[in-house]
Amino acid sequence: MCGIVGYIGNRDCAQVLMDALSKLEYRGYDSAGIAVHENGGISVVKAKGNLQMLRDKLEKGGTPQGHCGIGHTRWATHGEPSDVNSHPHGNGKIEIVHNGIIENYREIKEFLLHKGYVFESETDTETVAKLLDYYYEGSPEDTIIKVLGLIRGSYALGMVFKDFPDRIFAVRKDSPLIIGVGENENFIASDVPAILKYTRDYYLIESDEIAEIKMGSIRIFDIRKEAVSKELHTATWDVDAAEKGGYEHFMLKEIHEQPVAIAKTIAGRFKDGIPDFSESGITAEMLGKYKRIYMVACGTAMHAGLVGKYLIEKLARVEVTVDIASEFRYRSPLIGEGDLVILISQSGETADTLAALKLSKKLGADTLSVVNVIGSSIARESDYVIYTHAGPEISVASTKAYSVQLTIMYMLAFQLAYVRGVIDADQCREYVRKFQEIPDEITALLEDKEQYQYIASKLMNADSLLYIGRGLDYATSMEGSLKLKEISYIHSESYAAGELKHGTISLITEGMPVIAIATQEDLLEKTISNVLEVKARGAMVVMLCKEKAQVASNVADYMIRLPDCEDFLAPMLTSIPIQLLAYYTAVLKGRDVDKPRNLAKSVTVE
Ligand code: F6R
Repeated sequence: MCGIVGYIGNRDCAQVLMDALSKLEYRGYDSAGIAVHENGGISVVKAKGNLQMLRDKLEKGGTPQGHCGIGHTRWATHGEPSDVNSHPHGNGKIEIVHNGIIENYREIKEFLLHKGYVFESETDTETVAKLLDYYYEGSPEDTIIKVLGLIRGSYALGMVFKDFPDRIFAVRKDSPLIIGVGENENFIASDVPAILKYTRDYYLIESDEIAEIKMGSIRIFDIRKEAVSKELHTATWDVDAAEKGGYEHFMLKEIHEQPVAIAKTIAGRFKDGIPDFSESGITAEMLGKYKRIYMVACGTAMHAGLVGKYLIEKLARVEVTVDIASEFRYRSPLIGEGDLVILISQSGETADTLAALKLSKKLGADTLSVVNVIGSSIARESDYVIYTHAGPEISVASTKAYSVQLTIMYMLAFQLAYVRGVIDADQCREYVRKFQEIPDEITALLEDKEQYQYIASKLMNADSLLYIGRGLDYATSMEGSLKLKEISYIHSESYAAGELKHGTISLITEGMPVIAIATQEDLLEKTISNVLEVKARGAMVVMLCKEKAQVASNVADYMIRLPDCEDFLAPMLTSIPIQLLAYYTAVLKGRDVDKPRNLAKSVTVE
């Protein structure tokens, strides 16, 4: 949700800012802007639309020449996407970029209006820029500390002061921010890919720490002006990980990266063939003692939690409740000591998931996060963290991050089943052995893409469609439906197949696509009956089932066959067809696959 960057060094600042912003466009693409120290002033250029619009404007109007500046790519929260609402905000003396939300901006605005300030934009950010201006008496440091005491909400702020052309200031609270450390050049950014071309070394900034960044030095201090020492991190990803590598879209590249991501996520996490997370501080004894487990997450990550629920309940016989984070935090959840809350998040920055984590801790539950981005807020705030190893996921629609989240769900389910004595060590090793075959099976599945392109051509003209399934297939159908609608913009719902005739079946009209997932042997007959019910009402049926499943030729219009596997492993394989169907449908419709409208990768607002 918005990306911020900053640069100070000998390079052409505007060029570095634009390059860094291009790596953060997944965080928002409603508008963009830069502010660069130039000839004793600060030059600001901003434009509505994606980064290309700003590039065009810079080419036409002249690019600011300088060596110190900040930049922003926006996902609109307060105020529509427009030139005037774009960041940076300021008055030429102080310019700022902001990712997050200032909750008390109305009262600040009221105060400043009384002081005679005139507002140009509808943004919450402009109130911070003006508040800085109001208190500024020559010391950026004192002014920032004063303002931090007055604003509420979440923020990562990059700031430049006209009087100090040799430095950038940055601060964060509950929104991500890193400081990239180069040789005689330094950076700020919302995420590591923005700086990878220049450096892999970075500092993580904690809430309410302030950074003063110069060309050859970085000073980090707290609101009492006490110096804070920091551990230098080195990104293990290389530049290629954040590039398309010959694929047409990041999404397609990331779909293909799944076998490797899964293999990396399980590597080194076994003891005597049994899943083991002691590197994360999670012992088998500890896991075995929880009576109740909660999975809390948003969107795709929540769907991974849903698969986790089915698995853990079925294999380990422990009760699991799955919650959407934005609901969980406001429904007075009945959790407390002795419960385990598992927070699942690719970015580790999702505002609702982070708030659910804080609430769970407050209520006394143990918290375990399953997170992809190292050092992210959710990872840092939870009691235990299991990192998934998907590498950077750039496409807004999550694919490889989902597969590795599922991977952790399987490992936890196997370990829990074993420590609770539901299965013995040999059985557990056998589950693990079968799971380890999954990456190769996915690789094989990815070779046959034509059928998905063909079926996508049958879906692309639909106004609306349904995904149905039972049990684990229902969880997968929820993810299939979300993936398809978010990038193709075709309306889609997922339904538990047995629930259709309680209302939704009235939506079926001639030719309406229904995608039925039927990988679970014990539920196959039931799902086929539901498919026949929609078929009888004119639906065009696409069916996903295992190679060996016996399905009469009149049941489905199009069949997608998956390799035979244990029923409980099917979600790992079914995720490939649902992703490819969504991808090719969106491509055929000419959608902006990696950057679907109105969305952003990292949702740091409620
Ligand atoms: C959909 C998608 C989103 C995210 C959700 C949570 O493709 O990516 O639904 O899964 O916004 O994001 P994280 O996992 O970063 O907490």
